[in-house]
Order: sequence, then C-alpha cells, then structure tokens
Amino acid sequence: MSKIAKTAPGKIILFGEHAVVYGQPAIAVPVTQVQAKAIVSPDIHADPGSIRIEAPQIELKSPLADLAIDDALALAVTLTLKYLEITRPPAFKLKVTSTIPLAAGLGSGAAVSVSVIRAVSEFLGQVLDNETVNTLAYEVEKLHHGTPSGIDNTVVTYAQPVYFVRGQTMETFAVSRDFTIVIGDTGVFSPTSSTVGDVRSGWEASQEKYDLLFENIGTLSQKARPAIEQGETEVLGELMNANHAHLVKMGVSCPELDSLVQVARDAGALGAKLSGGGRGGNMITLVRPDDADAMARTLTEAGATNTIITRVGT
Ligand code: PMV
Repeated sequence: MSKIAKTAPGKIILFGEHAVVYGQPAIAVPVTQVQAKAIVSPDIHADPGSIRIEAPQIELKSPLADLAIDDALALAVTLTLKYLEITRPPAFKLKVTSTIPLAAGLGSGAAVSVSVIRAVSEFLGQVLDNETVNTLAYEVEKLHHGTPSGIDNTVVTYAQPVYFVRGQTMETFAVSRDFTIVIGDTGVFSPTSSTVGDVRSGWEASQEKYDLLFENIGTLSQKARPAIEQGETEVLGELMNANHAHLVKMGVSCPELDSLVQVARDAGALGAKLSGGGRGGNMITLVRPDDADAMARTLTEAGATNTIITRVGT
C-alpha cells in the first residue's frame, strides 16, 4: 500500500451565514490559497489495526485508540472505516497539516475532515464519491456545533461555488465574470459554536425579530446569485453591505469586524461584510481587481492580522 496525500481548500461564505441554519439560502465559495492536507502512509512495523495520528499544529501525536470519541480527527477516521466496513485495516499513520486559520470562518474543520476522509479511504483502496465524502464530513461537523447547516462541508467537498439550502441538493452555478475578494482576519479567535448558540438563544427569546432577519438575508442570497451569474459586481457589493447590516442586528459582529468593514468601504470597496460565524474571524471585501493589493495593505494597517486575496470564478 502506498502513501496517499489529499488536500481540501478553505472557504468563505459570501451571503447567508446563520440564516442558512434556519433554512434560508446561502452562497459560499472555495478559497484555494489556503488548504488542509492529510497524508496517510503505511506503518510497516506496527500490527494490523494500529492507527497513529499526528497533527503538529495542534501538538497532537497519538494512537487513534487513545483519542476521545469526540475528537474531530478520530471521528473522521472511524466514520470512514465504518463506512468501508473495515474493522482491522493495515497499520497506517495519518499526518494532518493546514494553512487554514482555525476558528476564523474559513472552514478549517471541514477541510481537515474532507482531506482525512479522502486520504484514508483511498489508502484503503476505495475512492469515495463526493456525496459520500460530504455526508461523512457533515457527521464530523456536528461536533463543532450541534446544528450545522452543512454549507461548510459541501463547499469544501465540491470545491466549487455553491448555492446552498439546508436539506436540499446543493447547486453549483456559473460565475460569468471573475471577481476579486480580499479577506481580512481580525485575529480574534471565535468558535462558530458560540455564535451559533447565541443566535439560537436570541431566536428563542424573540422569534419574530430573528425570523425577519433570516428572511431578509435569504432574499439577499437570492438576489446575489443572478448578480454573480451576470457579473454585476456593483450590485453584489451593495448586497454584501446589506447582509453585514443584518448580521450586526443579529448580534454576531464585533468592533474589530465593524472597524475593518468600515475601513474597506472608506478605501473604495464595492462592498464588505463579516464572513462565517462572526464575533471575530474574518471579514471579506469585494474590490476591483487592480485595487486588491492596496486594499490588503490598508486592512493590514488597520489591524488585520492576515489578508488573503482570492479570485472567485469558474
Ligand atoms: O464555520 P463558519 O464560522 O464559517 O460558520 C459557518 C456558517 C454558519 O452559518 C454560522 C453556521 C452553519 O452551520 O451554517
């Protein structure tokens, strides 16, 4: 059995985070500049059934058997073995690395799961189809927060722009004219589980207010899709600004995100919003291609700890 390496990209949500958990449409795109990588190699000195996992960035080096059942890496491996109906695989080592910042709304958890599921299954002689990989990765996503919409694992698995409605078959769509997004990291660590939980509490306390916010955001996603398909970047920018305003009302922004969003708009962005779970992590800004480098510098000067320029296209 030979060594297998698989990668999976990061992602950003262009429209519809949080509202997507409540059945509204959302749009997400892959970010190929950052990625997770899983390498599976045979462990020739170990007995069959032995699996060792290494993830240097989180200082993990452990036999699978010693990891908690709710460890995300362990779960990705055990779910894959279960799906393949393999109880005693040939001994292997799994090494996971990632350039996707953690807990920043860039889909690091989903990308790690997808790369692990693909690498382990292929090492064991089976290439799983996207639908199966997506289903298994969704099971792991449930660890991060109990009620994931499934958008992260879907966009990362298919590595294409997706128009996503929870519980429905995902749709990809054509981008007629590439557009450029600058991603700015606030550097504020913010696990998705806590903002998703807070939105749930807010919704339970004032359902009417939240349902209206979710619906309004869903309408923005619906309008954004044709704008992307027809290359109307100016419209897209305005829709992003409107989406950010709704997320502020939902209580998932924070001073650092609002400040970078404002800086981007003042510097001539077509639009800007937070992206992902919020309260930290990343904001995104739509710019004219020639303005991308200057925008990245402006965001850095305004406190962004990292910036990524990405082109969205087919
Ligand atoms: O993983 P993040 O931080 O990009 O957030 C995922 C998007 C949410 O809508 C907040 C949650 C979900 O499950 O869709």
